[in-house]
Formats: sequence, C-alpha cells, structure tokens
Amino acid sequence: MYDEMPIKRTGYNVIILNKGTNGMKNDDRNQYKGMLHLTRTNRAMVSRLRMLRRYKGDPKRPNIIHLAITDKCNMSCKFCLYKKDNKNFKVIDADRACSLINEINSPIILISGGEPLLGGDILKTTRRVADMCRKSGKITGVLTNGITLKKIIMQDYDEFKRGSKFFFQISVDGLKEAHDSLRGHFDLIMDNVQYAKEAGHLIYTNTVVSKSNINSLDEIVRFIAGFSNRIYLNPMLGSENGLDEEELKTLGRYIIDHQDIMIGNSINYGKFLTGKRELKCLFHSLVSITPSGRLKLPCYCYEEGAEYVDSFSEYLEKVGEQKSHFENRQAQQCSNCYTHCLHESDVYARYYLNEILEQVKRPWGAYKKYIEPLFKSLS
Ligand SMILES: C[S@@+](CC[C@H](N)C(=O)[O-])C[C@H]1O[C@@H](n2cnc3c(N)ncnc32)[C@H](O)[C@@H]1O
Ligand code: SF4
Ligand code: SF4
Repeated sequence: MYDEMPIKRTGYNVIILNKGTNGMKNDDRNQYKGMLHLTRTNRAMVSRLRMLRRYKGDPKRPNIIHLAITDKCNMSCKFCLYKKDNKNFKVIDADRACSLINEINSPIILISGGEPLLGGDILKTTRRVADMCRKSGKITGVLTNGITLKKIIMQDYDEFKRGSKFFFQISVDGLKEAHDSLRGHFDLIMDNVQYAKEAGHLIYTNTVVSKSNINSLDEIVRFIAGFSNRIYLNPMLGSENGLDEEELKTLGRYIIDHQDIMIGNSINYGKFLTGKRELKCLFHSLVSITPSGRLKLPCYCYEEGAEYVDSFSEYLEKVGEQKSHFENRQAQQCSNCYTHCLHESDVYARYYLNEILEQVKRPWGAYKKYIEPLFKSLS
C-alpha cells in the first residue's frame, strides 16, 4: 500500500502521507493515525519554539507582560506591596487589557493582582484575558494566593483548562507555621493545590524569602517540590523582615547548589546574590500593566517616582530615555533591589523551553513506533 502513497517532506522534518484512510487495513490505519498525531505534535512544538525567544535586550520585544487585573485582595499579607484599599479598588477594563496585550505582543503573560481569582468582574476580566491569550497561543500564568483555586477549577472554565501553555502560580511562603504567620490559610491552600495537581494542572510556585523562612529554606523547598513544577524564590522587598546582606548570600548559595530541584532562579542570579557577579536590570523585558490600564515604568515594584504612560509607543520612548540609568541600577531604589524576575527576564521562557524539550521524548517514541517500521517497509 505504501508504494502508491505520495510522500511529502515538510520543512519540519515530518512526513505527511497524502492519502485518506479509506480501504486501509486496521494495522495500516493505526500507523496512519500515529503519523498524523506525530505531524500535529511536531508542528505545535515548532510553533511554540518559534514563539519563545531569549530576551536579547530589545525593548520592542519584551518577553513578559505582568498584568495586575485588580488591586483588591481577599488576604492581607503584612509585607504586600501591591494590595490597596479594598473599598476603593480598581479592576482593569477587559477591552483595554486585551488591546494593550496585543499592542505589546510578548509571548508570556502573567495575570496577577491583588487577587485575580476573586469573583464577579475580577474573575470575568481574568477569564476574558486568559481566553484571548490562550487563543493567540501565548504562555499564560495566573498568579494566585490559592484561596479560591479549587472552586474555580471545579467550574471547569475553558479559559483555565489544563495544558502545557497554561499554569497556576501559587504563593507558598513556608510550611504551616511560617506560611500562616506571613499569609494564613495554609491548610485550605494546600488542599486546593492538591486538587489542582490531581486535575492535571501545571503548577508553579512563588516563595517570598524573608527573615521568617530563610533558616528553613531547604525544608520548604523540598516540601514544595512535592507538587510544584517550578519553584521561584523571591527576596522580600520593602519590609523590615527582608533579608540582610548575609542572608541574601545564603539564598544565593542555596540557588546555586540546588538547581536540580526545579528551582526557577538561575545560577547567575545566585551569583548575583552572593556578590560574585553583576547583573543588569532588564526592566524593559517585563512590561507592567496596572489595574488602571496604564503602563508603569520602570517596573512593577518601583515605588516613589514611578512613571505611567498610556500606550506601548510612549513606553518605548520613556525606556529610550531611561534605559542605561535603570539597567545599571543607578536610581537609589535600584541599588538595593534584588527582584529576580527583572534581572532574569527569560527565566519563564527558559524553563518553559525545558518543558517543551521534555516532550521531544514523546514524538521520539512515536518515531520508533510508526516511522521506523515505515522506512523498513519501504526499503
Ligand atoms: C502581589 S501577589 C498577586 C498574586 C496573589 N495575590 C498572590 O499573593 O500570589 C504576586 C506575588 O508578589 C509577592 N509579593 C507581595 N509583596 C511582596 C514583597 N514585599 N516582596 C516580595 N514579593 C512580594 C507575593 O507573595 C506574590 O507571590
Ligand atoms: S494574597 Fe497576594 S495580593 Fe493579596 S495581600 Fe497577599 S501578596 Fe498581596
Ligand atoms: S533594579 Fe529593581 S527597582 Fe530598579 S528598575 Fe530594576 S527591578 Fe525595578
């Protein structure tokens, strides 16, 4: 049967057989289906690899958008820099958020807050944005405190369907005692995380490292590694409970020595914390959208003196004026800033890439099963 079949080689090193399944024997039909599957998988993978780009320092091509849907929250973490007054909170207009995301056109979107999984207009907006990002093939993460996670997953919303391009990133700041003293609701959150995991979701975590948990870091990370696909460790900013110089070095050494346990921060960042190397702040690799629908400069964590603009073209103009000032951390607030995601613009892209490479094993299995026998049958 394969003798009559026209074989086409595509640019992706994949073979497509231009023949329907009619009239095939069962074995042939299975081979044919297997090959179609392989073709689709490879195409999807190539398109993802194309979409991912290492950040080359060009502000016109930022890697990540950090979208704060709202400044409202159902928790009151003492150290939080982002939650505002719950009576006068803002929620970004969904059309505005979508048009800014399209204009900026980065491959990764982090939907954050406040809390993006609160009900009502907040959830509607988060769903609408996630839907648009998903349909346009972007990698989408929802950063959440995890309080409503199980309830949300039980609703089975299409926008939050599990998949390799969608993740929930949950804040876990310690084992029960430490987490409860910093944030609260540890048991509920763990129950919800377990539910999300069992439902097959990709789970990333964020741990804010402070004086309260630096001494039990290893215990926390090993606990989190039981359910998290990627663990990000962020030094606490702007609080008395933040790390001193020696503690930052301890965190740096930990990151360098534990790359094998799914830590998202890179070795270079570890070296930066230990003082062994400098890192430029690539603030323009991550564009920050506020709940008022404006773009904030230089970054989401910059406080006094931050600037706000209304379009990406204005943003680029401002970056042009301030690039070297902030890249070289010359502003006073920057000199003691250790925010990892802005120093390591492509941490998400890099680890997402690893997850894709893992999938290469699957088509390889399909190759052995379907393509190799085909070649043998042709020779
Ligand atoms: C602002 S929250 C929004 C999402 C959600 N409410 C949550 O807590 O995960 C995003 C991340 O910022 C972190 N964060 C808040 N205040 C911080 C601070 N002072 N220093 C470092 N990280 C902070 C939170 O712990 C969380 O991981
Ligand atoms: S849950 Fe998130 S947004 Fe809410 S107070 Fe805590 S850190 Fe801030
Ligand atoms: S060094 Fe810190 S505060 Fe300064 S621009 Fe970079 S991330 Fe923002």
